[in-house]
Amino acid sequence: MNMTSHRLITQARRVELDSIIVKGGPVLSGTVSTSGAKNAALPVLFSALLADGTHRFTRVPVLRDIDSTHQLLEALGCRLERNGTDVTIEVAPPGEPVAHYDLVRKMRASILCLGPLLTRYGEARVSLPGGCAIGSRPIDLHVETMRKLGAEVEIDQGYVIARAKRLVGERILFEKLTVGGTENALMAAVLARGTTVIENAAKEPEVVDLVHYLRAMGAQIEGEGTSVITIDGVDELHPASHAIVADRIEAGTLLIAGAITGGEVTVDRCVPQHLEALTDKMQDCGFHIETGSDSITVGATDSWTGTDISTSPYPGFPTDLQAQFMALMTQAQGTSVVTEGIFENRFMHVQELVRLGADITPMRQVAVVRGDRGGLSGADVMATDLRASASLVLAGLVAKGETRVNRIYHLDRGYEKLEKKLASLGADIQRVR
Ligand code: EPZ
Repeated sequence: MNMTSHRLITQARRVELDSIIVKGGPVLSGTVSTSGAKNAALPVLFSALLADGTHRFTRVPVLRDIDSTHQLLEALGCRLERNGTDVTIEVAPPGEPVAHYDLVRKMRASILCLGPLLTRYGEARVSLPGGCAIGSRPIDLHVETMRKLGAEVEIDQGYVIARAKRLVGERILFEKLTVGGTENALMAAVLARGTTVIENAAKEPEVVDLVHYLRAMGAQIEGEGTSVITIDGVDELHPASHAIVADRIEAGTLLIAGAITGGEVTVDRCVPQHLEALTDKMQDCGFHIETGSDSITVGATDSWTGTDISTSPYPGFPTDLQAQFMALMTQAQGTSVVTEGIFENRFMHVQELVRLGADITPMRQVAVVRGDRGGLSGADVMATDLRASASLVLAGLVAKGETRVNRIYHLDRGYEKLEKKLASLGADIQRVR
């Protein structure tokens, strides 16, 4: 293992024990900038495996999930240079196209190397990711897609083993909409022989950003952002360069941080139209929202009403903002009904919010939130997954006294220096070891 990976692992071990302490009270105000999107950077970085040579990326967020991707790409024969948010990847054929369990278990998105490895090298062995806090999160649709494109795929000793002389374009209809499944299908199809049509494709902006990079590498793709994407396979791709799209989930989290404290906050370097489902709901609650070309401002207010949300695929209300919005609803006047329509177990934050004094009744996929401004009081709480951690930090901004969010390595997987960004808006927040 080279020094870089060793340093990353040591650093990661050290960070495991970090907590965040936030003191409730300050009304946030000011402007804060959005980083590049984690969920776009991950598939885009893995897509570099499709072409040898030097790929250059900017606005890659500095996150633990990017560290994990770095380690996995190095294990697959790539050489990475990272300078802040600039990443250069030198791609060469891997000794063996294998993504080992010890790397995949840390980040389930590692399954996104299956499509590129299989279509480029005719073979891929990728460890099964295992479940995670928010649900079983199977990869059956990913496996089915590779079989439909002509691969022999077996599951053996915890690994997906896929082989194909050359994938052949096919019609792929996803009976269940899947972001990662769509991304793996895209990356497999770009070097397949013939045309692939993906139906019921995911329309998320991160999928669109991946298509932008695949096209920059010479792929022939039409229809991104709609539910039907057509790919005409080519024989070879070439490396290119790309700026990662803004992170709509981070932007939404920062907007809610301003809103929950009743302050006026502008989030810039974002794509307002990617956040319409959130801003529409915030306006329903009585927040004043102003959008610029690359910014959204939430106006100061001292009271807002509850509203109901139900998470669904883009352009619906994003499941990745459900926990954060629930924290906001604990401070609303009146009752809100939150329905989680994507994952089977994404209410891990509920019990922790209840520890802070929130009045929330979870019933399987639905949680009833009875708003009660000023009703929260600080306590020690436990982060369980990435977005639940953010929800607890947001609640801590308005809880009386001190809230200590433990195990914030979950937070570091998907938020670049969240505590620094919130402190720049006036939050009384710090990271402690
Ligand atoms: C992506 O996960 C995101 N992760 C998730 O963000 C996000 O919550 C999710 O899409 C939904 O928007 C990345 O992009 C790295 P799916 P993904 O395949 O691709 C089921 C975050 O917090 N399913 O769209 O794994 C699955 O169990 C993370 O940043 C199958 O049944 O999500 C889920 O119920 C969390 N079989 C539903 O489909 C499969 O083969 C949607 O999953 C694949 C998925």
